[in-house]
Formats: sequence, C-alpha cells, structure tokens
Amino acid sequence: MTQPIVAPGLEGIIAGSTRLSRVNGLAGELIIAGYPLEAIAANATFEETAYLLWNDRLPNAAELAELQASLASLRALPRATLDLLRAVAAEKVAPMDALRMAAGTLSLGGIEGAENEAAALVARFPTVVAAYWRLLNRSEPVEPDPALGHAANYLYMLNGQIPSPAQARGVETYLNTVVDHGFNASTFTARVIISTASDLVSAITGAVGALKGPLHGGAPGPALDMVFEIGSADRAEGYLRAKLERGERLMGFGHRVYKVRDPRAAVLSAAAEKMFQADGDRQLYDLARAVEEQAVALLAEYKPGRNLQTNVEFYTALLLHGLGLETALFTPTFAIGRVAGWTAHCLEQKAEGRLIRPGSDYHGGLGRLWVAVDERGN
Ligand code: COA
Repeated sequence: MTQPIVAPGLEGIIAGSTRLSRVNGLAGELIIAGYPLEAIAANATFEETAYLLWNDRLPNAAELAELQASLASLRALPRATLDLLRAVAAEKVAPMDALRMAAGTLSLGGIEGAENEAAALVARFPTVVAAYWRLLNRSEPVEPDPALGHAANYLYMLNGQIPSPAQARGVETYLNTVVDHGFNASTFTARVIISTASDLVSAITGAVGALKGPLHGGAPGPALDMVFEIGSADRAEGYLRAKLERGERLMGFGHRVYKVRDPRAAVLSAAAEKMFQADGDRQLYDLARAVEEQAVALLAEYKPGRNLQTNVEFYTALLLHGLGLETALFTPTFAIGRVAGWTAHCLEQKAEGRLIRPGSDYHGGLGRLWVAVDERGN
C-alpha cells in the first residue's frame, strides 16, 4: 500500500475541480470562467461578472437587465439586519466583524432557495458594509438608488453622493478583479460548509470569517500603512531591510500559489495609475512603485529561492485609497467582490453533492492508561 501524503496547509493538493476560475501560479495567469482576467476586469460590469460565474456565459441585454432589476429589488436590508448593525455600531465593532454578524441574517425577508439566496447575498453585502460604515461614523444609512448599478451603488451608499463614472469604474474593476480565485481559504471554507448539505448563508458567513485574517484578505491595510510610513522612495530600502532583519513579513508580497507577479496586481496597478493620473495624486502611485521594486529585490536577497512577488493586496490598497475608502473598509470591500465567487462555488459544490472530509495524520501519544481524577497528582 502506498503511504498517504501529508500536506500541511494542503499545499500542492488538488482538492476538487471547478469551472469557475483557474489560477496558474507559474505563468502568473488567472482565468475567470474561460476569460483572461484582463478581459473581464476593466470591461465587465459586476452584474455581468456575477452572471458569468452563476451561468457559465455572459448575459444578453435582456438577461442583464433582469439581473440588474433583481439585484436592485434585493438590495435593501431586512429590518432585523439594520437593527443589528445599529446595536453593533454602538460597540464600535470592526467592519469585518459587523459584516460577519450581519451576513448570518441575510436569509431574512422571505428569501428561499439557493439561487435566490446567492442573489440576495451579492445584492446586500454592499448595503451592509455601507450602512454599517455610516452608523459607525454617526450618520444615517443611505437607501440604495435603483437607478445605479451595483458598484456605483456601493460608493453612493457610503458617501451619499453619486460617484463619477471614473470612480464607479475604479471600484467595479476592483470587484471584478477579486471576484474569484480558485480554492483560496475563504472559498474552500464555503465549499466545506455547503458540502455538508448546510445552507448558503451559513457557508458565506464562514467564508467572511476566513477572509478576515491578515494572511488572506486582511493585508491591504498594513500594506498601505507601510507605504505611508516609508513616505519617500529614498527611505524604502532602509525601512524594508530593517523589517526583514527583524524577521517581519512585508504585507502585500508573497503568495501560496503565485511564484511570479500576481496578475491581479498588474490589473489593479493599471487601474490605480489611471485614477491617480486623473486626480493629480501621481506621487503616491510613484512611491508605491518604488516601494514595490525595492521590496521584491530585498525579498529575493533575504528569502532566496522563495520567489516572493507582489500580490493583489498591495495595489488593492492603493486603488481603494484613491477611491477615498479608509483602510478599515478594504477587507469588507474585498468581500463585496468575492461573495459572488463564493456563492458560485457553493452552487457548484451543492450540485456535486460530495462531502469534503480529508483525513489527518495523528502524531499524539499511544497506549496511555486511564487514571482517576483524584489519583492524578498535579
Ligand atoms: N515577507 C517576508 N517573508 C515572507 C513573506 C513576506 N511577505 N511571505 C513569505 N515569506 C517567507 C516566510 O517567512 C518563509 O521564510 P522561511 O522559510 O525562511 O521561514 C518563506 O517565505 C515561505 O513562507 P510561507 O509562510 O511558507 O509561505 P506561504 O505560502 O504559507 O505564505 C502568504 C503565503 C501570503 C501567507 C505569505 O506570503 C505572507 O504572509 N504574505 C504577507 C501577507 C499578505 O500579503 N497576504 C495577502 C495574500 S494575497
């Protein structure tokens, strides 16, 4: 009998198959349902991308209009969700925790069936994040505007102002870029939960919890802080070297799968450059490019052979900052994009109907003898 493979972190293990996205870590290539990311990111509306993931094809004009109307009708939050957000804001809970708490309530309001739950989750995530952000900052939530698309609505509900087409396009490009990425930790979490024949809302709530961690979706805030702390290109080397000497990780670099530059970094870098050029704050963009160059060079020096390259989080930070979003909103905004991918994976896993249940390698003791509690000493 061949010895079973033990793979800590499931590294290198193919845990299932999917039609939703293909991540080629050596070529630095990401395919979204048959399309290269570059074709989708800056061209599709988020509604088109969600439709593509759910249906494995792009919608025609009538199908797109139907989806837009359906999301618009689902966008408002159930009363209980808003009440919860108000109570949670009083405790100044972090937005990702508030999203996790609210996610569990999103099956309310007469939503039944996995497809309808998927649409409701996608429609309502931006409403939850925007409403909570306003409550946290002592202002009242802004009702969604049925005349605006998904991405524009998010910015509108956050700021109470209709965004410019360039801003709406910026956030839309971001949401498309992070919509799906193979069996990443949060997607896999969702698939594990739904594979037990649990419901979609439970699966998505678990995924939010997985995304929150700094090794997954929580890195863009610290990545931006790092660029600000560095402040000018001539300070980059000293700052980054000191961090690496202390054994710290550089946020926004390294990836379990990509051993070349993350293709999403390229798409987001281009979107950020466009935006910063338009509003004149080119300096920050140039500083970030200089930090990136220095960080990649130093990572090669300190961690030779590891191929640590720029990941999606680095330019996420820059783009979202350019859109006026505060760092606390970065990971929740990631979730607003990824929830479409999570729901599509859940529907795929549900159709497959196979429980995910890996084995484990026991390394504890053997043959221990039972001793009654009063005979155990201390
Ligand atoms: N900065 C410095 N060193 C890093 C690093 C980084 N960003 N990423 C990995 N390394 C080092 C590790 O310290 C380790 O070195 P060692 O072998 O000398 O101990 C080696 O590279 C391998 O790291 P490992 O943790 O095994 O790789 P992984 O595949 O588990 O890590 C990440 C992937 C994303 C968790 C990791 O690269 C990381 O922590 N990056 C920073 C956080 C981040 O940007 N997250 C967003 C991901 S999209």
